[in-house]
Amino acid sequence: MGSVIWSLLLVVFLQIYIIAATTDAGDSAALKSLMDEWEKAPPSWVGGDPCGDSWVGIGCNDSRVTSVTLPSMKLVGRLSGDISTLSELQQVDLSYNNGLTGSLPTSIGNLKKLTNLILVGCGFNGPIPDAIGSLSQLRFLSLNSNGFTGRIPPSIGNLSNLYWLDLADNQLEGPIPVSSGSTPGLDMLIHTKHFHFGKNKLSGQIPAQLFSSSMTLIHVLFESNKLTGILPSTLGHVRTLEVVRFDNNSLNGRLPLNINNLTSVHDLFLSNNKLTGPLPNLTQMNSLNTLYLSNNSFDSADVPSWFPALPALTTLMMENTQLRGQIPAIFFELPNLQTVVLKGNQLNGTLDIGQISSNQLQIIDLQNNLITDFNNSDRPYNFDIILVGNPVCDETGTTRSYCNLPPSNSSPLYSTPSQNCLPVPCSSSQISSPLCRCAYPYTGTLNFRGLLFSAFGNSTPYQILEQSLMHFFQSHQLPVDSVSLSDPRMDPNEYFLLNLRAFPYGQESFNRTGISMIAFVFSNQTFKPPDQLFGPYFFRGDEYEHFSDDPANSKKSSIAIKIGAAAGASVLFLLLVLAGIYAYRQKKRAERATKESNPFAHWDPKKSSGSIPQLKGARCFSFEELKKYANNFSEANDIGSGGYGKVYRGTLPTGELIAIKRAQQGSMQGGLEFKTEIELLSRVHHKNVVSLLGFCFERGEQMLIYEYVPNGSLSDSLSGKSGIRMDWTRRLKIALGAARGLAYLHELANPPIIHRDIKSTNILLDERLNAKVADFGLSKPMGDSERGHVTTQVKGTMGYLDPEYYMTQQLTEKSDVYSFGVLMLEIVTARRPIERGKYIVREVRMAMDKTKSLYNLQEILDASMGFAATPKGLEKFVDLAMSCVEESGANRPTMGEVVKEIENIMQLAGMNPNAESASSSATYEEATKGGSLHPYGDDSFAYSGVFPASKIEPQ
Ligand SMILES: *[C@@H]1O[C@H](CO)[C@@H](O)[C@H](O)[C@H]1NC(C)=O
Ligand SMILES: *[C@@H]1O[C@H](CO)[C@@H](O)[C@H](O)[C@H]1NC(C)=O
Ligand SMILES: *[C@@H]1O[C@H](CO)[C@@H](O)[C@H](O)[C@H]1NC(C)=O
Ligand SMILES: *[C@@H]1O[C@H](CO)[C@@H](O)[C@H](O)[C@H]1NC(C)=O
Repeated sequence: MGSVIWSLLLVVFLQIYIIAATTDAGDSAALKSLMDEWEKAPPSWVGGDPCGDSWVGIGCNDSRVTSVTLPSMKLVGRLSGDISTLSELQQVDLSYNNGLTGSLPTSIGNLKKLTNLILVGCGFNGPIPDAIGSLSQLRFLSLNSNGFTGRIPPSIGNLSNLYWLDLADNQLEGPIPVSSGSTPGLDMLIHTKHFHFGKNKLSGQIPAQLFSSSMTLIHVLFESNKLTGILPSTLGHVRTLEVVRFDNNSLNGRLPLNINNLTSVHDLFLSNNKLTGPLPNLTQMNSLNTLYLSNNSFDSADVPSWFPALPALTTLMMENTQLRGQIPAIFFELPNLQTVVLKGNQLNGTLDIGQISSNQLQIIDLQNNLITDFNNSDRPYNFDIILVGNPVCDETGTTRSYCNLPPSNSSPLYSTPSQNCLPVPCSSSQISSPLCRCAYPYTGTLNFRGLLFSAFGNSTPYQILEQSLMHFFQSHQLPVDSVSLSDPRMDPNEYFLLNLRAFPYGQESFNRTGISMIAFVFSNQTFKPPDQLFGPYFFRGDEYEHFSDDPANSKKSSIAIKIGAAAGASVLFLLLVLAGIYAYRQKKRAERATKESNPFAHWDPKKSSGSIPQLKGARCFSFEELKKYANNFSEANDIGSGGYGKVYRGTLPTGELIAIKRAQQGSMQGGLEFKTEIELLSRVHHKNVVSLLGFCFERGEQMLIYEYVPNGSLSDSLSGKSGIRMDWTRRLKIALGAARGLAYLHELANPPIIHRDIKSTNILLDERLNAKVADFGLSKPMGDSERGHVTTQVKGTMGYLDPEYYMTQQLTEKSDVYSFGVLMLEIVTARRPIERGKYIVREVRMAMDKTKSLYNLQEILDASMGFAATPKGLEKFVDLAMSCVEESGANRPTMGEVVKEIENIMQLAGMNPNAESASSSATYEEATKGGSLHPYGDDSFAYSGVFPASKIEPQ
């Protein structure tokens, strides 16, 4: 008890210390000067102590102001040059304040410690001051969507730490500056990953010097400018590129041949230029998803041979490109096709769409060509084919559907539906959230400048984005209750737009702190959309009209601070008393809370004959509760079933999704076994193992409640059902995750666990495609006494089952290794273990010839992986799989060894096996804690002061 009092005392002292620290006088004056330039300052900006009084948007370190984060604050006025007095400032974000106008003060160049300068979507104009080049620490510069005029200051070339450079959507003109003599230029930015210059008036030729092999750019966006001349061949030396946009310019001449060397590019936009010469040869661009070449003046040419050789292609836009001849039927076999537009060419002969293998194909638009016949017209297909303006439609009945334009779709393509509830009527400008609560959402538009899918009617990508947003908000403890997305559309600049609404948690509207935190997540690109579907984006936040702390309410600053500000020694006693009362009440509250969450309340000792279950981190749910969360266990919530019963999706009141596994009558375990299972599961915590959140054991029901994993099973992804593109690197990453999860169960869980049912339907994928091992229905703990093996009745799934275990009935962890080997073969072949009577292990063993490239397995391997370039390390991967399916368990590697080998293979393939998780042994908790996600890359760029100080305050 004594030590408790002392530590409380310490806390009190600490608080007094913090409270007593007043803001540096110079900083305080500078903020006042900023405020004076604005028509209305945020209501909490009163008094003389911005740090001590927690002014909204102001972050401090001791007495010095280090961040000013005020996005979407309805600020109106100019930016005072006195901001330069804030000499410790590291971060400025004033985005989404349309009313902020005037020019950027030149004195901004004095902010020598500034790392992030973010002014997206304001009304700034005039030239960008040259002094910006003296911000030597700057890493993140976003001035996009303003009215800046004049030239790009060459001094930006001096910003050697710059990671993100976004000047898009302004009125910038003149040439792209490159260095010469002592004049700096953009070619010097070799650490910069993002060049975003679209929607300006840049003119002149693209200097060849701009690009070089020492650069590390991933996004080069110059779309919608007035650039002329050729695309320099130096672009082909930037091998890191992923998104390249030069569309809507006046480029002419031939494309450089080495564009074909950009093998990581997935979006290439060159349409609406005046390019001439032969069509480029893109055979090697095996990551290409989206290709826009429309409206250029290429030489008339036959359909190029690389058409069917781009395994990842989803979108092909080649309108008016002088293509002639016949499209080969194998082109339509590309597994990921969604949109093909080849209007206005001279394609002729008979159209044969062969075997369509993509189940996401939306449209083949061949208007205005010379096609005379359509071979497959009698076969049903569920996408649009348009042959209007071809001879095949001239002759006979225009009744054929492909001879008519499909009806234009007037209904919105997607809008987030309500989650298991009926939308409620709301008053005035409130809106019913997906959880059917009326509130004032924060709104804005997500603008994607690149996209890896084009089937806008397919809801999967939006659902994945919703999940990923909610996961982000929850893990960063932002006060968001739910999000909705709506009205997906393309704008004339080929940007993909999506409306976003974020609803406040637990109240009708956000306060200023909430809005500034949420807006910052987008302006600073802290939120990164799932990169398997969405390319670079920017966000345009709308003004928020309903701040909960706007009216007189703002005076409600806490009593503690007021007391603290005046604190003298005499107050200490009072504080101590208060602390004592507080501690007592906390204790009582804690006791009450324990009682409420007591799992025994629902535990029937007569049936279970056991003591209270010993749970770590899992809780007991009541049947009524779960019934509500799962919408009465309705069919709509049914997301899977098996021998044991069904799995339902449910939504907790917090908006968090859960998966409820409900045992059916007949497959229930005895109470004791059920208890043992949940005790076992509640001890398992690893980021590659699905975590158990709780259970329900009442009314004759047995239910397990797991975290919801949004991207379905590995099996769905391999079969193409989930629409996620599975390239080689993704497959490796998934294999590694699953191996790590299993190695954890074998080697680190206490007691160690044999899973017994490893298969592709039991590997789930989260929104970042991290693998999670699921379903412990057949799992066995290995007690110390029986370490080695367990004799059991043989259980498992045909095709994955270890033959040795089958024959001897002795279960060891090597049986899981066998199943994992089969899973690895499934990963590279996308075949089920037993398909049409053929056993995959045997098929691979027979076809394998180690003297040939890819071990002669091309026939068996999954083509949608993309083989235009050999997947690096594939042979080693097959070797490893085959060692896992060795006949004798003793000859198989352990899961720990499997993990190491997959890590080696990834390094061989140029990937970083630890790209996302800091350490391979990180527990789930560690991995999710305070992860600073950052955009489009896995280098170690860290944001400083990501959240305003108010966020970091101890409770
Ligand atoms: C592509 O890159 C390779 C290796 O760097 C190089 O040898 C080749 O010349 C490049 N191709 C073109 C067309 O420049
Ligand atoms: C295209 O390039 C690939 C590899 O760079 C080469 O093998 C092929 O012959 C080229 N095709 C044409 C039509 O030039
Ligand atoms: C299609 O066009 C190509 C090239 O213009 C020509 O060689 C070929 O004969 C045409 N085929 C048909 C069936 O008209
Ligand atoms: C603003 O809202 C957040 C989250 O809803 C809350 O934690 C915080 O105390 C509020 N701040 C003020 C000043 O009301």
